[in-house]
Amino acid sequence: MQTLHDIAPLREALHEHRRAGRRIALVPTMGNLHEGHLALVDRARELADVVVATLFVNPLQFAPGEDFGRYPRTLAADRDQLTARGCDLLFAPSAETLYPNGLEAQTRVHVPGVSEGLCGGSRIGHFDGVATVVTLLFHLVQPDVACFGEKDFQQLAVIRKLVSDLHFPIEIVGVPTVRAEDGLALSSRNGYLDATQRRQATALQDTLRRCAQALGRGEDVATALARASHALVEAGLRLDYLELRAPDLAPFDKNRHVQGRLLAAVYLGSTRLIDNVAVALPQAERG
Ligand code: PAF
Repeated sequence: MQTLHDIAPLREALHEHRRAGRRIALVPTMGNLHEGHLALVDRARELADVVVATLFVNPLQFAPGEDFGRYPRTLAADRDQLTARGCDLLFAPSAETLYPNGLEAQTRVHVPGVSEGLCGGSRIGHFDGVATVVTLLFHLVQPDVACFGEKDFQQLAVIRKLVSDLHFPIEIVGVPTVRAEDGLALSSRNGYLDATQRRQATALQDTLRRCAQALGRGEDVATALARASHALVEAGLRLDYLELRAPDLAPFDKNRHVQGRLLAAVYLGSTRLIDNVAVALPQAERG
């Protein structure tokens, strides 16, 4: 696997692939790779001739006071994992390379509507940072297809709208969440949890799954959400949000929507975890 840190050699390498008519897939990451990221690489491998991963801990998407400074940086181990999974090219730029005029002066991309609420409500500016860096990476790599995890469900919706609004000729593929044996969604932030918190964290997926089942049986939405919120708090988690939305994250309307998405964010100490599950509403709920 080739590792490149600068834009000119990246463009040159990709130009060669494009000239040879090869289909290019992009897997953007912030590194500290786990099986969730590697599932994106596997999917990308199935969809294209050339797999390009990017590794960049993007300062623009961390709000002041968030974990930018302590976000794990594990380039050597990440390179080994990507090589083992058949990734062809890793682009790992510095902040100076991507944002040469500094963060304040950087042109930003804002995706209205879908960036608001949920994680966008508590992580101010987060999705502008994500949309900006993903737009840059799309311009630099010009992939045919790009893979993103469904764990970051709102991010996936933001990127789908970005691609549609800016007419990027890129297919966006969502890849299902990879979970630990006890159901916890894999995340680089799980590494912040101590042993007690790691046990408590399983309540997030358990509660979402139970709540989705209750909604699937036709339980009233407000009642099911109230019970789930209570269960999360009882398990020692501090609730940021728990919401039922339509699959495209529009407000959920039980008279219109057959499917839904249940999304939550919680804090364990200072660690923020997110998760989401699909919900299938019964016929009766649809009115
Ligand atoms: O999902 C992530 O790891 C990041 O938000 C992304 C898409 C790589 C942009 O920095």
